[in-house]
Amino acid sequence: MRNPNLKPATGKLGIMVVGLGAVSTTFITGVLMTRKGLAKPVGSMTQYDKIRVGRGAEMKYLPYNEIVSMPSLNDIVFAAWDVYPVNAYESAINAEVLKEKDIEPVKDELLAIKPMKAAFDKNYAKRLDGDNVKQCTSRWDMAEQIREDIRNFKKESGADRIVVLWAASTEIYVAPDMKYHGTLAALEQAMKDDVKDKVAPSMCYAYAALMEGAPFVMGAPNTTVDIPAMWELAEKTQLPIAGKDFKTGQTLVKSGFAPIIGTRMLGLNGWFSTNILGNRDGLVLDEPANFRTKEVSKLSTLESILVADEQPDLYSNYYHKVRINYYPPRNDNKEGWDNIDIFGWMGYPMQIKINFLCRDSILAAPLCLDLCLLIDLAHRAGRYGTQRFLSFFLKSPMHDYTKDEVPVNHLFQQYVMLKNAIREMGGYEADEEID
Ligand SMILES: NC(=O)c1ccc[n+]([C@@H]2O[C@H](COP(=O)([O-])OP(=O)(O)OC[C@H]3O[C@@H](n4cnc5c(N)ncnc54)[C@H](O)[C@@H]3O)[C@@H](O)[C@H]2O)c1
Repeated sequence: MRNPNLKPATGKLGIMVVGLGAVSTTFITGVLMTRKGLAKPVGSMTQYDKIRVGRGAEMKYLPYNEIVSMPSLNDIVFAAWDVYPVNAYESAINAEVLKEKDIEPVKDELLAIKPMKAAFDKNYAKRLDGDNVKQCTSRWDMAEQIREDIRNFKKESGADRIVVLWAASTEIYVAPDMKYHGTLAALEQAMKDDVKDKVAPSMCYAYAALMEGAPFVMGAPNTTVDIPAMWELAEKTQLPIAGKDFKTGQTLVKSGFAPIIGTRMLGLNGWFSTNILGNRDGLVLDEPANFRTKEVSKLSTLESILVADEQPDLYSNYYHKVRINYYPPRNDNKEGWDNIDIFGWMGYPMQIKINFLCRDSILAAPLCLDLCLLIDLAHRAGRYGTQRFLSFFLKSPMHDYTKDEVPVNHLFQQYVMLKNAIREMGGYEADEEID
């Protein structure tokens, strides 16, 4: 490897997943099946993508693990927390994402993944009623208990490095409030004072992870690490953080399709997105306070791609609406519809319809793998704080809103950021500009 400052990926990587539901079990099962040569990790950038490095005669396209040191899938060990006590095997069966034939060959390994008690507060997800929950005297105590779990898992598994990934239900929306979230000291005080409505359980997981030296990834739209207090903690502990919200179905399409409209200077009158979804995620999102968190995340995508201030004739007045409807018969097989009202030459209207019959967890699983492997890579490369190069995988990329930073939502600009970060961590120069 060309970069002598990149620590090699030696030993085991412990991935501790918050939530052992549809996404997590699909992710874990897929990794275990791939390890046995019984499945392919389709959709994973770290396992398939090749990046150009060098110029002229030196130019070549290399997979990530030939540019930077990466762990093999055999080096990963898993642990999880969940509100429900069922092990990863039962949970994978219950989720009905994968067929039994794709689960049975790794049954023993899945049976061994029994969820630790969750740091949970029912007020944050009213529709969940599991009892595998920690008894906590305060949010501070909650974080202390999670820290102990991380230490224990590290010791028992022999993992050299730990990454904590949130793939648990979406919590109710916690708007950033500078009184409690503005500084690390304020957040720690709020945890000690047990200010329950400002310190979400997810914040306790993130706090615990960073205090135990583990990078943290937020896969739901929760504002958990998207607050100045957590940015400060990540700086202080020199650990990378990333979030938020896996970019899977409709928003992937949106961030890839909106550039067509913007690049060809077509106008937009409105974009209506709706979904039907019948898994537990859909059930939780049926609660308006939980949906609000998702809505904020999903709405942010278009505004930074089709920008009113830059093209007032084209984008100053579009109506953007996103709905998710809980519809049990479809389970994890989400169906999304997008109706896009555009206009062209002399203002003449046209419509585009997109109907995406996707599988939510099948799309999310490779993102879990890539986010965990790449945030571990970032840590080994000495990067810390918000990892903007991981925006490619996220619906609502973290950015410093206190300084009016605009997030990059454009899928292809995000891809350039991803490639350049890998190049740089591999000791090559970043060579594609983002305009
Ligand atoms: N699948 C996708 O395409 C996609 C895309 C973006 C975001 N997400 C997000 O990923 C998350 C997981 O989705 P899913 O389909 O696996 O949901 P799921 O309901 O199947 O699983 C979530 C699990 O988290 C557990 N949980 C909730 N609060 C917890 C806590 N405080 N501690 C520990 N466990 C807790 C629940 O008991 C549940 O088993 C959701 O927040 C969802 O919004 C999914």
